[in-house]
Amino acid sequence: MKKEDFIFTHNYDSSLEGCYRWESPSNIALVKYWGKSEDQIPKNSSISFTLKNCLTNTKLEFVKKKLKSQLFDFDIFFDGKLKLEFKPKVHVFLERIKKYCPYILEYKFTINTTNTFPHSSGIASSASGVSALALCIMSIEKSIGPSISEEFFYKKASFLARLGSGSACRSVKGSVNLWGAHKSFKTSSDLFSIDSPFKVNDVFMSYHDAVLLVDKGVKTVSSTAGHELMNDHLFGKKRFQTAQDNIEELSIILKNGNLDDFVRLVEKEALMLHGLMMTSDPSYILLKPKTLQIIEAIREFRLITKIPVCFTLDAGANVHVLFPDKNSVEVYNFIDSSLKLYCENNSYIKDCVGYGAKQL
Ligand code: PMV
Repeated sequence: MKKEDFIFTHNYDSSLEGCYRWESPSNIALVKYWGKSEDQIPKNSSISFTLKNCLTNTKLEFVKKKLKSQLFDFDIFFDGKLKLEFKPKVHVFLERIKKYCPYILEYKFTINTTNTFPHSSGIASSASGVSALALCIMSIEKSIGPSISEEFFYKKASFLARLGSGSACRSVKGSVNLWGAHKSFKTSSDLFSIDSPFKVNDVFMSYHDAVLLVDKGVKTVSSTAGHELMNDHLFGKKRFQTAQDNIEELSIILKNGNLDDFVRLVEKEALMLHGLMMTSDPSYILLKPKTLQIIEAIREFRLITKIPVCFTLDAGANVHVLFPDKNSVEVYNFIDSSLKLYCENNSYIKDCVGYGAKQL
């Protein structure tokens, strides 16, 4: 599909008013997206697990604007409180999608949003937040326009979410997502994410992700700035090719369920992401001493117990601990006895692989 295929060109009844509500999850990348071209086109493909418990719940109310204008009219509330500081991000998102959803200029919107995970916990809420909003907008499109297939609905929701925050496109549907055109998967696309185009081994469908909250502070370098530093990065070309190779390898692992290979590849990807940050110009370090202490402890525990538990990292200091369901008792005991002391307020989030967004 081309991006032009997502432009809404139909006549529609703009007098319709109403409200839609979607709950959308966060996701954690196994092979990372780091580096992009214009229009949020990724420099390499990425694969993620969709999470189950880290969710954003968004209600979008829409009423016809009194006066027609080219300006957006919306208010955004978070946990019931008006959030003027959220407006610029939403505004950028609406600006980017208006070409594809011209009807959004007809309405005044009230957005009410809440997260199931603690605010400013250091967990990126952009993936769940942007995807929930994109899905609400697609619900409007579905109600005012000609009938669209379920497949198109989710593809366009993912396409719109991508324009808000790249990784958000992986949050709309499915448990394992692939985003970014890859030669081995002909349905893959840079424009939107797809549900894994191969059968994922059952062991991964109940995988756990315990999110250890090491640092709840604001990131010193935004992901937008980080992506930009990949444009002239010394290792950029090599990284983008390596990521494509890692996608190939991970797809085989996800099919055959080889957990030793999974551990090796996932940790390598996480550390490569931070290696790229440390070798950017200017360089920066998002890992904290406690992040490294947790990583060392996980590796030691794995060596001693032979339990295939591993870590991955986002663009921050928090650690995602990944492990199969059959080892969950031992690993949660280990986290409680040896890892949570490194977390702010001893707090961490118990999550696992989920199924994608849900209309409420
Ligand atoms: O979606 P963004 O622009 O916030 O970038 C997210 C990048 C990583 O979280 C570091 C990796 C990924 O693939 O999710």
